[in-house]
Amino acid sequence: MKPLHALTVPALGMTLLCLPLGAGAQETDPDTGLVKAEGWETVRDNCVACHSANLVTQNSGSRNHWEKLIRWMQDTQGLWEFQAETEETILDYLAEYYGPKEGARRPALPRTLMPDNPYPTVADPG
Ligand code: HEC
Repeated sequence: MKPLHALTVPALGMTLLCLPLGAGAQETDPDTGLVKAEGWETVRDNCVACHSANLVTQNSGSRNHWEKLIRWMQDTQGLWEFQAETEETILDYLAEYYGPKEGARRPALPRTLMPDNPYPTVADPG
């Protein structure tokens, strides 16, 4: 059976657009939900001992965000220190697969779909 073309079913199309980029393309570990990619086992071995992996997979952010989070857990929650190489692996993985949600913001509406601007502007005199 041929897959439905998204455009032929607008509702389905919208649903697909709302999914995170690449959803479905990545294989995930059934136990933790972690994306199975380079470094995932290191993350599993170090990041699900104290809390559910959901806490990891539902979070997202830049490498800096993840690093701060790790420091916070090390400073206050008893997370152990990592060897530099291990930490690199973890941060690379998290920043790559649980990075900032760029797709979460829709693009700006085209001008034609916007109401008329009631205020005079330099770019649009009149
Ligand atoms: C030694 C225990 C421990 C380990 C190991 C651990 N964490 Fe945590 N983590 C915690 C605790 C405690 C919290 C706070 C849980 C809560 O708020 O219920 C937390 C919270 C979090 C949160 C949620 C932060 C927020 O803003 O709510 C994320 C994301 C997270 N951890 C990711 C990780 C990652 C990634 C790793 C592996 C590098 C990891 N954790 C390993 C103890 C740990």
